[in-house]
Amino acid sequence: MEKNFKRTLITTALPYANGPVHIGHLAGVYVPADIYARYLRQRGQDVVMVGGSDEHGVPITIKARAEGVTPQDIVDRYHTIIKDTMEELGISFDVYSRTTSDIHHRTASEFFRRLYDNGQFEQQTSMQPYDEQAGEFLADRYVTGTCPHCGSDRAYGDQCEACGTTLAATELINPRSSLTSAPVTMRETTHWYLPLNRWEDALRKWILEDHKEWKTNVYGQCKSWLDMGLQPRAVSRDLKWGVPVPVEGAEGKVLYVWFDAPIGYISNTKEILPDSWQTYWKDPETRIINFIGKDNIVFHCIVFPAMLMAYGDGFQLPDNVPANEFLNLEGDKISTSRNWAVWLHEYLRDFPGKQDVLRYVLTANAPETKDNDFTWADFQARNNNELVAVLGNFVNRATVLTKKYFDRQVPAPAELQDIDRQLMADVREARTRLEGNLDTFHFREALKDMMEIARLGNKYLQETEPWKVAKTDMERTATILYCALQLCADLSIAMEPFMPFSAARLTAMLGIEPLGWERLGEDNLVPVGTVIAEPELLFEKIDDDAIQAQLDRLARIKEENKIKNWHAEPQAEDVDFDTFMKADLRIGTVLECVKVPKADKLLRFLIDDGLEKRTIVSGIAKYYKPEELVGKQVCFIANLPPRKLKGITSQGMILSAENADGSLVVIGPTAPVVAGAQVK
Ligand code: 2FM
Ligand code: ZN
Repeated sequence: MEKNFKRTLITTALPYANGPVHIGHLAGVYVPADIYARYLRQRGQDVVMVGGSDEHGVPITIKARAEGVTPQDIVDRYHTIIKDTMEELGISFDVYSRTTSDIHHRTASEFFRRLYDNGQFEQQTSMQPYDEQAGEFLADRYVTGTCPHCGSDRAYGDQCEACGTTLAATELINPRSSLTSAPVTMRETTHWYLPLNRWEDALRKWILEDHKEWKTNVYGQCKSWLDMGLQPRAVSRDLKWGVPVPVEGAEGKVLYVWFDAPIGYISNTKEILPDSWQTYWKDPETRIINFIGKDNIVFHCIVFPAMLMAYGDGFQLPDNVPANEFLNLEGDKISTSRNWAVWLHEYLRDFPGKQDVLRYVLTANAPETKDNDFTWADFQARNNNELVAVLGNFVNRATVLTKKYFDRQVPAPAELQDIDRQLMADVREARTRLEGNLDTFHFREALKDMMEIARLGNKYLQETEPWKVAKTDMERTATILYCALQLCADLSIAMEPFMPFSAARLTAMLGIEPLGWERLGEDNLVPVGTVIAEPELLFEKIDDDAIQAQLDRLARIKEENKIKNWHAEPQAEDVDFDTFMKADLRIGTVLECVKVPKADKLLRFLIDDGLEKRTIVSGIAKYYKPEELVGKQVCFIANLPPRKLKGITSQGMILSAENADGSLVVIGPTAPVVAGAQVK
């Protein structure tokens, strides 16, 4: 339902301050939000874009404990990195704050208290895992034990990472506290619950009837939640880190991170607009748009709206929640814990000055309707074949020719021909499509519309051939270049939401001030007589080496992960000491090592075992070149009965350790020992 509005409040999901931000965050939330905010501002609308770091929650406390620092140290570190990164990428927040701020603590606390005073909560008692030794309740993540499904002994109380099953801490076999390793007991605790069921009818109407225009992924997820029926949700936790529950007797309890985080949008608005923030939240003529990723849909479309309705006092619900799906990296899910990501601060270091390239590629591949994949090959291709070859090339041709024929002065056009008028008509048409797509959050399509303007420019130059015309007709050349330069100015307007840095360079190159959106497609944007700056390239080719370096980094991470993710085989049954001692383990020196013909896996060793030279055949040919091992000392079992392999009698077995990927590393002493030394 379209309604009239006077202003727009754009909120962006608050990233957790327990790590830096990656391309998935940027593609899913911050680039789309920024495109939209910049577009509305260019149209002269009243826009406020708020963001900030989400600084509460259990993972932050876990990280702090692991590093032996305080949670505050952790969030200080990552808040700074995230804030700087956003700024460098040109994400034009009006405020980027944090949920540990005083104003947020006060706002969230007051919010809870009002709901509490108005009887909007239910109190419920439940059994929660407790660490007697530490004297603390444990979040599910803090409980580890054996998975009832796959038997992995490293399952967490909320999930088993070995088999992927979602768990409750109570399901684990032999649950232990990861704080102290003490066995976990269950203890009674009381929490406040927001009865979402009370708001079910209102939510149904608001979403399913009044917001049929929402993206299908968002609408569909909401519908399935609503169809399952809503239950009361706990909004407090037994934890020391967070906004304390402002109720007497609630010591040691804090607001659940998902209760306080969305209130952060309100706190942040208050922070920059202490006098007028209420207009942005309570005036029905304000439009609120929440930019988020798909994992946040339920909190933004169901839980937070229920909180706002429970609060009352005129708070408006969002008009739209254009949530995105996920971005994968080279075919695999982005994962912070596996370091499978392109970290934005690292990108900025590796590709200085190329913020717009990333913004462009992530918009072109935005996971708007389904999960999408980022690949470095595509990044390079889009830069080289689109930004350089299409957009940059057009601007460069127009400006270089102006320099060549008119000494950088915008020439006066003579009479326009059909092809010139057609060009202007085509631009206006592209503008209409562009606006239609931006207004409805179809940013991928909008980006194509913007590029269409550059393509029109290239086609125009191709067809009018000013470099040929200049040989005979300077008046016509002047008209063509005048039109081409106007198109450059159109581009500078259309590019701004997507690639603000390049748009600014382009306007500077054209010798003009930034133009408002309404000028797009108008005449005389770069006035006759304007002296344009020395032409320079807007985009540069990215070479194979730079891409290879990124691929090499990912390959290294993949290798490291294989090793890290290795779930050790369960320990074998006990063996008595005497049995173990029967194995005669010794160190020998490799005298010769050669490949066994017609056997890919086998190497034949001649070993000095201190008494004689013995032959041993070993299946490690895939992992070593024979010459690498000559002169090395290896550990072998000396008293195995001889056996024949490919016609060779092997007198023992060389010991190796096996990696997660099955690769083998030969075991030897850490310092030279006498050949034949016994291993005990
Ligand atoms: O999923 C997340 O990363 C959350 N930190 C998002 C919070 S959005 C909002 F509610 F603050
Ligand atoms: Zn499992």
